Amino acid sequence: MKKKMLILILSIMLTISLNAQKPGWAVVPPMGWNSWNSYGGNINEKLIMGMADAMVNSGMKDAGYEYIVIDDCWQLGRAKNVINNTVSVGRNSHGVILADTVKFPHGMKYIADYVHSKGLKFGIYTVPGESSCGGFVGSKGFEELDVNTFAEWGVDFIKLDWCGCNESDTIVLQRWRKILNNASRPIVLSASGASLQTSIVKYSDMWRTGSDIQKIWASDPYSFKIFPGISDIFKLNLYSPVRQTVSGYNDPDMLQVGNMADEDSKTHFSMWCMFGAPLIAGNDLRNMTPAITKILTNPEAIAIDQDPSANQGTLVKEFAPGLELWAKNLYKYSDYAVILLNKGEIPAKMVFDYKDLGLKSPVFLSDIWAHSDLGLFSKPYEVELPAHGCVMLKVVANEFPVKIAAYKIPVLPVASPIQAEDSFFSFEAAKIDKAIPGYTGNGYLQGINHEWCVFSLRFRYDLEKQGNYKIDIRYNLPGKEELNYTLNNAKVTFKPTGKEWKIVSADVNLTKGFCELILSLKSCKANIVAIDAITVSRE
Ligand code: GLA
Repeated sequence: MKKKMLILILSIMLTISLNAQKPGWAVVPPMGWNSWNSYGGNINEKLIMGMADAMVNSGMKDAGYEYIVIDDCWQLGRAKNVINNTVSVGRNSHGVILADTVKFPHGMKYIADYVHSKGLKFGIYTVPGESSCGGFVGSKGFEELDVNTFAEWGVDFIKLDWCGCNESDTIVLQRWRKILNNASRPIVLSASGASLQTSIVKYSDMWRTGSDIQKIWASDPYSFKIFPGISDIFKLNLYSPVRQTVSGYNDPDMLQVGNMADEDSKTHFSMWCMFGAPLIAGNDLRNMTPAITKILTNPEAIAIDQDPSANQGTLVKEFAPGLELWAKNLYKYSDYAVILLNKGEIPAKMVFDYKDLGLKSPVFLSDIWAHSDLGLFSKPYEVELPAHGCVMLKVVANEFPVKIAAYKIPVLPVASPIQAEDSFFSFEAAKIDKAIPGYTGNGYLQGINHEWCVFSLRFRYDLEKQGNYKIDIRYNLPGKEELNYTLNNAKVTFKPTGKEWKIVSADVNLTKGFCELILSLKSCKANIVAIDAITVSRE
């Protein structure tokens, strides 16, 4: 009896400790700078310390930015993966991870101390797998030791990327949360989950909602969306199944503000503030134009980002393709943030009408970018927006607040084909191949000589009814070998088709509400399957 009791108590304790929750070190969306968007692997001590100086001197620190984060390629060791021909351990005889001695001759503690001496915080990158996305050693097998090493260096923020990891997000994040909770200093966890699970909120302070942001306004509509442009991300971030809350933020990726034209940068920043997203700058802070400095440090926009409600703004209305109204409730009673957005390539007139928010009486408007009060409006407020432009308003109403409805993802169009180019996310190269007759779309999933192990095509939808669905996949496989994919948990075997398109079917049980169809191949072998479309029907 006693033994049984003991086992019960121990298993309860184990469950509690396995499910260790985060302390929530990032109460508001983290603000900082990261080396990746401008420098990739071309980083060194001088550059990072120069950014710390510039964060202070430019006024960004005063505006609320605090983290200086070194992204990938700081490590000494090269991991075994398809990118690397040579492999080096990059750890000392005790397993302690080492920084590249050419890029960082004084080591990481030296940089962390410098960053701290400026009143800032220090962040670093790793992955739970064997290899980072850039082919450097990951933390696999050394996770606890690495966190302890980072803590000794003075790390305050870890960007945990996801390359080379074949465990589920939940398992990995539970483990990391436990390790971080035992670390000797508070460390914010920024995760890039391979497939977003709602449990990510419990373990992580912020999490990526999509693939890598590019310095472009929109991805080419005639190619497959591998990496999104700024305006593609607006909707992608909405599709996140995870609701952000205080201390847990959807991360549409690091900013390209300053790496793009001023107008694009301003709209990009406004939308991130509308999302209440982490604001991690990715430009050269040492050489910013006054216009870009003003964008990154606009106090009214930043206040909307850091609003204590942690609300994620949403699309409220589409007036015409590319002309959108976005809004969110602010923490302060009956205040709202509003964006009128012109995603298009030509200037456009737009109006803000308080009735579009569901309000009944006149509202007081302030223009966030003009830094001025516009006054009380009983009539619609008309604006002229340049291409890629926006107006960001603070709206103060004089009535009981209306809850801005969360964005509803589209209901799964049962029995009509969903084109591969409309998928949410892919990790792999693709190309248009009009050489295969009978192809009905602009782009599809086709990986040739691909280097990454996760090869997936995702569709996110809402579903009216739970049930068994038959999924038909229209594909082409010119190669000679058959390929075994999974569609959620079902096995899908693609057989060689020559130049024809064929259909393979799978049965999948889908629950009502949010659902995600993930077609994936977890193999690093090159493959050339092309997906044209999927059709979902009830069995
Ligand atoms: C992935 C991430 C990027 C960056 C690179 C580094 O692609 O999404 O943000 O960290 O890895 O290799």
